[in-house]
Amino acid sequence: METFKAILTKIEVREFSQEPVPFEQQIKVLEAGRAAASAYNRQPWNFVLINEKKLLNKIGELAATGPYIAKSQFAVAVYVDPKNTFYKVDGTRAVQNMMLAGWDMGLGSCWVDGIEREKVSQILGAPPEMYLLTIIPFGKPSRKYKGKKSRKPLSKIAFLNNYGHNLLEENKYS
Ligand SMILES: Cc1cc2nc3c(=O)[nH]c(=O)nc-3n(C[C@H](O)[C@H](O)[C@H](O)COP(=O)(O)O)c2cc1C
Repeated sequence: METFKAILTKIEVREFSQEPVPFEQQIKVLEAGRAAASAYNRQPWNFVLINEKKLLNKIGELAATGPYIAKSQFAVAVYVDPKNTFYKVDGTRAVQNMMLAGWDMGLGSCWVDGIEREKVSQILGAPPEMYLLTIIPFGKPSRKYKGKKSRKPLSKIAFLNNYGHNLLEENKYS
């Protein structure tokens, strides 16, 4: 898929089909995260690939705003090291890469924040000093998504040369 098309069509997916996702695709998602740029190239992240059904169910129970993790084919727990000033920015860049790589392979995903972090980290055996940024569930979408996003028009959020100066008369991406 063309990168720009992937960016424009990618929406969050919270309903997954039960079609298995090949392990190679799961690794490809992690590779996309690994390739992300980070401040000073410190790469302050670790990823835990979760693809055991029992574990996904357990984590789904600990995610108030993402119980659908239980229905995903795999999920990635993204840990970042708070000793690095830009740890959340760096981790987020890795997440975006993973999501877009997944989308390119026909996989939906969604950022889940509402997690009982301590409990999940204990289950995953993560060191207490590492911050669990998010858990991203992946899987084939269970239904067809149109890819229509609800976003502010470019004319409202971007300016030309001076803050407040109109950029476009008409915004084709609104
Ligand atoms: C930092 C962050 C936290 C989010 N937390 C959750 C969450 O806990 N549960 C959830 O279902 N979606 C969560 N989302 C997804 C947002 O609701 C979603 O990205 C936004 O509504 C745009 O969705 P769209 O791309 O499908 O239009 C989160 C997104 C971000 C960036």
